[in-house]
Amino acid sequence: MGMYYVPEVSEGVFWVGAKDWNRRIFDALIPLPYGTTYNAYLVKGKEKIALIDTVNPGFEKELVDKISQITDLASLDYVIMNHAEPDHAAAIPHIMQMGENVTLVTTEKGAKMAQVYYNVPEDRIKTVNDGDTIELGGKTLKFIEAPWLHWPETMFTYLVENRVLFSCDFFGTHTAFGLYDEDVEEILSSAKRYFGEIMMPFRNMGRKALDKIKELEIEIIAPSHGPIYKNPDRVLEAYRKWTAGETEEKAIVVYISMWNSTEAMIKTMVETLMSESIEVSLHDLSRADIGEIARDLVDSRAIVLGTPTVLGGMHPLAIYASYLVRALRPPLKYGVVLSSYGWSGGAIKQALEVLGPTKIELVGSFEINGPPSNEDFQKIVEIGKQLSSKIKG
Ligand code: FEO
Repeated sequence: MGMYYVPEVSEGVFWVGAKDWNRRIFDALIPLPYGTTYNAYLVKGKEKIALIDTVNPGFEKELVDKISQITDLASLDYVIMNHAEPDHAAAIPHIMQMGENVTLVTTEKGAKMAQVYYNVPEDRIKTVNDGDTIELGGKTLKFIEAPWLHWPETMFTYLVENRVLFSCDFFGTHTAFGLYDEDVEEILSSAKRYFGEIMMPFRNMGRKALDKIKELEIEIIAPSHGPIYKNPDRVLEAYRKWTAGETEEKAIVVYISMWNSTEAMIKTMVETLMSESIEVSLHDLSRADIGEIARDLVDSRAIVLGTPTVLGGMHPLAIYASYLVRALRPPLKYGVVLSSYGWSGGAIKQALEVLGPTKIELVGSFEINGPPSNEDFQKIVEIGKQLSSKIKG
């Protein structure tokens, strides 16, 4: 018994990952309110041993110590690299240096990245194609190419005998809490947030990947972040909806206001939408968590953007939010832009420029000077009713 908890999550499969309780930002962009995990798994066959993915820089020793509680590093045969991003692959050189017999297994694109990012010698890399297998002795690893989830080289590994799918980032959640899905309340909300942040721009590739695994018998989904799904059906069904871009009768409202005029417009819009039984999520950009915005974009049918004019254009936080909306490619169908200006407009023009390349149909835009008058409120109610009727289809 070593110092670490190294649970056997399926017969002969050990969790040797690390929990990063204190991390609060990912990719210098995504807030992590609950930290995150870097899941790595040791699969022990009768003849050979494979490590599936590794951990973020700084956790190499913890990974090695955990592996050492199960086996000597000298007896490790393979490191499977499902994805080359450093949070899962940066410890590879360390592992390959300590385990002299280790071969890196990855896709063709992954092989190039392993050389560029981690200086892995070409003669220590085994490249696998879709459907290839490796025998460990009573345990068969089958590789499933699943590119662009969310880098070009990504793949899944399926442990045939145990019916475990190692899906790397796909199906992940950023949380350090819990080992299994049943340990974490509202796991689907966390999974949805993660999907919005990372996978939403790649919905088409996600759909293809789901199609590829639909005939597989899956008892456990073991992703690289967050809890392991012992009950994979719920997340599989959620991913089916999210990758298909199925939306609800929901509107996401993002706004920023300097002297409350835009906020007053937004409040009237929110009241109108709610009176029409539209579900609304509201985000004040001065203190919004962009992960929550990403989550609410996953299945909202409409967006309302509110921004004052600042220096001839949108408020900078509204520029940022609009750009994120464009980049994340949510399945939004309809949009409204509301704005108030002090002495000359310009915010709406810029909003339409930023959102122009999206497929969002503009249902209405309204720009006013100063605080809204009673007539302005009436006009906003009208636009809100038009938007509601579009949302309800
Ligand atoms: Fe969790 Fe794309 O790395």
